[in-house]
Amino acid sequence: MNVKALLNQRVAEALARAGAPGDGLVQAAARPEFGDYQANGVMAAAKRAGQNPRALAARVVDLLDLADIADSPEIAGPGFINIRLRGEFLADQAALPVAVQPSRAAQKVVVDYSAPNLAKEMHVGHLRSTIIGDAIARTLEALGHEVVRQNHVGDWGTQFGMLLAYMRESGANSAELADLESFYRKAKVRFDEDAAFADTARATVVALQSGEAWAREAWQHFIDVSMTHCQSVYDTLGVTLGPADVMAESAYNDALAPVVAQLEEAGLLTESDGAQCVFLDEFQGKDGAPLPVIVQKSDGGFLYATTDLAAIRHRAQTLHADRVLYLVDVRQSLHFRQVFAVARAAGFANENTRLEHLAFGAMLGKDGKPFKTRSGGVVKLAELLAEAQIRAEAIVAEKNPDLDAATRTEIAAAVGIGAVKYADLSKNRTSDYVFDWEQMLSFDGNTAPYLQYACARIRSIFRRDGGLPVAASAVQLLPGEEAERQLLVMMCRFQEVVEQTAEDGFPHYLCTYLYELATRFSQFYEQCPILQADDETKLRRLSYCRQTLHTLTAGLALLGIDAPERM
Ligand code: ARG
Repeated sequence: MNVKALLNQRVAEALARAGAPGDGLVQAAARPEFGDYQANGVMAAAKRAGQNPRALAARVVDLLDLADIADSPEIAGPGFINIRLRGEFLADQAALPVAVQPSRAAQKVVVDYSAPNLAKEMHVGHLRSTIIGDAIARTLEALGHEVVRQNHVGDWGTQFGMLLAYMRESGANSAELADLESFYRKAKVRFDEDAAFADTARATVVALQSGEAWAREAWQHFIDVSMTHCQSVYDTLGVTLGPADVMAESAYNDALAPVVAQLEEAGLLTESDGAQCVFLDEFQGKDGAPLPVIVQKSDGGFLYATTDLAAIRHRAQTLHADRVLYLVDVRQSLHFRQVFAVARAAGFANENTRLEHLAFGAMLGKDGKPFKTRSGGVVKLAELLAEAQIRAEAIVAEKNPDLDAATRTEIAAAVGIGAVKYADLSKNRTSDYVFDWEQMLSFDGNTAPYLQYACARIRSIFRRDGGLPVAASAVQLLPGEEAERQLLVMMCRFQEVVEQTAEDGFPHYLCTYLYELATRFSQFYEQCPILQADDETKLRRLSYCRQTLHTLTAGLALLGIDAPERM
């Protein structure tokens, strides 16, 4: 149950009945002294209705019917209302199985994420989109939305002319193509040093675009090899992307000319230096000069923006998406603002389709500079993930020397990959973030290993006690100590946090929540003996442990992180 939404609705009803309609602005309380939730909406509502805020708060408290959920609310300061959940309510909730409940209004949501450029191997630049997008897709799905993953891979454009020309010249076999990075470098060297080769490369682009059989075949082979690389990274990362989710740039080739024709029909096209452009008043350069969205070059070629317009049209009109989410680097913000605006103006997407660029910052090294290898090269994802597992294995071996090798490797994979994912997900995505092995693999603080360890610790309690307890009835679950109550209150917040995470596209909300839950569990565990307690208390506390475990593992699953049985 979304407790926050329920309370908010009740407060809003009371405000309306008190003659001062408005949003209840209910939030989880900032501090325990303020109760569990606080309603902050009275002041604004009073101001609008010309009422005294304290007096309105008193009226609202009188009218507020919360008996089934909370004790009688208290007024604080200029008109805040503090709400403390009732033990009976908490016990009822604790008796229910942990599960994310479906949203009342299920939507169809396109999530555009990962989307590497297939000319090269995936590198750290694609990590954030892949990880964050996957967590958001899983969260939306858990809430009952229909998610359509779209991996908008870059498989088209002039670079492929160079690569195909080099493939032909060098007679490159699959073995050579296996290292895409060095293959790309060699092709680039040829391109830069030999004008004749560069001409061949350009001619190859034309051959590819006009659909010549040899060029198409070679291209397909190259794309297959490159996609296999990506898929192996996805598998190692444990993200839910597969071949069926690929909707490459080239898939829109046939739609590009019609898109431009439609822009023309809509009266949106202007020719500028031979190129077809859309000018919208809202986009101006620094000097106030109008900023174009170029959709077709003077040589007839189409651009990245044209493909994105075709993609929007497809997503809105063919897929009938209610929302389209783009997990793309913040440096493309202007691009998305522009294509969204053009798509709206052209009627490719109407107001029934929300278009959202969920931007993220760069991944930096500990020196605060863009993340590079020691020699300054790009870090290949496959190598980074291998390193994560090696580092995690060393830590796991140190913490738990008795594990057999196979178990240790399995745990290390969950811990290493989990650490990389969580480090990214737990930060506000809009900022740059510093990639720091020591921090992300630490067992203290807001990290994956800390949460995984919390799960393993709870499981070890059950091992000592001979298995999971059967669900107790709500009567037996009334919290005793304040630490027990605090733990139950936190568990009640799971649904609202999951919903907010999906609404705003901010997985760090969920991470912060899981960390707070694990912290409250630690306090409970320190203050409330479990296995030594009398039978009734022990059964109750074991039930809380089980509930905590299920909430933590459910939350981690939404982030795409496994919690191993032991650590
Ligand atoms: N391939 C692009 C890049 O590497 C990202 C594509 C993002 N999605 C989109 N619909 N434009 O920058």
